[in-house]
Amino acid sequence: MAIKYSGDKMTVIPLLKDKSIVVGVTGGIAAYKAAALTSRLVQAGARVDVIMTEAAARFVAPLTFQALTHRPVVTEMFALLAETDIGHVSLGKRADLMVIAPATANTLAKLAHGFADNMLTTTSLACRGPILLAPAMETGMWQNSATRANMALLRDRGFYFIGPEKGRLASSDTGTGRMAEPNDIFEACRWSLARKGPLAGKHVLVTAGCTWEPFDPVRFIGNRSSGKMGFALAAAGRDQGAEVTRIHGPTARTAGDGVRCQAIQTARQMHDAVLDIISTTDVLLMAAAVGDYRPASFAGQKIKKGQDSRSVELAPNPDILKAVAKQNKPGSQLQVVVGFAAETEDLLENARKKLDQKKLDLIVANDVSAPDSGFKVDTNRVNILDPQSEPVTLPLLSKDEVAANIIQRVIVKLEEKAGDQPGKD
Ligand code: C5P
Repeated sequence: MAIKYSGDKMTVIPLLKDKSIVVGVTGGIAAYKAAALTSRLVQAGARVDVIMTEAAARFVAPLTFQALTHRPVVTEMFALLAETDIGHVSLGKRADLMVIAPATANTLAKLAHGFADNMLTTTSLACRGPILLAPAMETGMWQNSATRANMALLRDRGFYFIGPEKGRLASSDTGTGRMAEPNDIFEACRWSLARKGPLAGKHVLVTAGCTWEPFDPVRFIGNRSSGKMGFALAAAGRDQGAEVTRIHGPTARTAGDGVRCQAIQTARQMHDAVLDIISTTDVLLMAAAVGDYRPASFAGQKIKKGQDSRSVELAPNPDILKAVAKQNKPGSQLQVVVGFAAETEDLLENARKKLDQKKLDLIVANDVSAPDSGFKVDTNRVNILDPQSEPVTLPLLSKDEVAANIIQRVIVKLEEKAGDQPGKD
């Protein structure tokens, strides 16, 4: 997503809105899954043109894609040359992104060697935008040294890849060669499109969700954070071109593609994981609801009813942001640190205190007692505080929109800091 301001009015523009995307479908059984991908892209606002090889059209009827895109499906190169709108290179020239799913071994070989013998390979050669490939084939074909060499060539030339995955194949065997799931290819499309965004070359570290502090093998102290805000932030950073790492506590959410993730359980594990990679981090977004205390001792076996006293002694957890601030010397890579304050009273006052104490560049504060804001729900109403200026209150927005807004402010902070460096005007 991107944000446009006109006066005070803010409009969030989803990354895929009005983008020209060519979906290339080649002849593998996974071709049917390309329909689900196409549908997601269309629903996200992209203008999608589908090109099918002859073999692909034997697996799935072109009409399926035509119905999904409301546009003609390209299957035959020479029949189209007469058309002015879809000439044999015009689709490639205007594409913001081309995604080939499934990409068979045969098509990978053709692309690696610059063939232009059908509309799909011709369009790939003419394509000026990024090309994402979702290979799918039988395991032996995938492991064959010819395919390996073709893949290496394509990687070298800047093609992006997603999958293949290990799993059940159409041959009933299990092995590597299964096409990535449409949802993951969709996320990879967003990642590929964003590669040249304002955060290109930056490493953004996001913490998400809650921590679990165990006192016996089956019980723990936790909190209600679902990780939704942290996941939205990671996706928003990725959509602006950043390399994103997400360190997250226990959550039911699954990883979207294009974000490196590390799962942890306790605050101390999160502390260690953050400090491990902080020296290569440019932006830290500490969205996790970290447990402030943990049980002082851990019982190796499940505590039986009546066996023990009913009170649990607590020990404080390390404050991760304070540890980061202590370690962050002038000149280090870490430029922007954003904290989050989930409060139930005196929202702005408490957030301002944390902003100062934790030496933050921004703090995002929300009242988690409001029904439409905070834990578990998809919306949030936040205030953003900056050490230098008055708090900004955003209206009720989806967590994706809030995340896009925070990332825009991070981009501005990075620009300000780059401008402040010695030697700059
Ligand atoms: O829990 P608290 O309200 O202090 O959280 C404010 C910010 O500090 C959040 O960004 C949270 O992720 C971070 N935090 C931390 N280490 C802790 C507790 C909170 O970094 N032990």
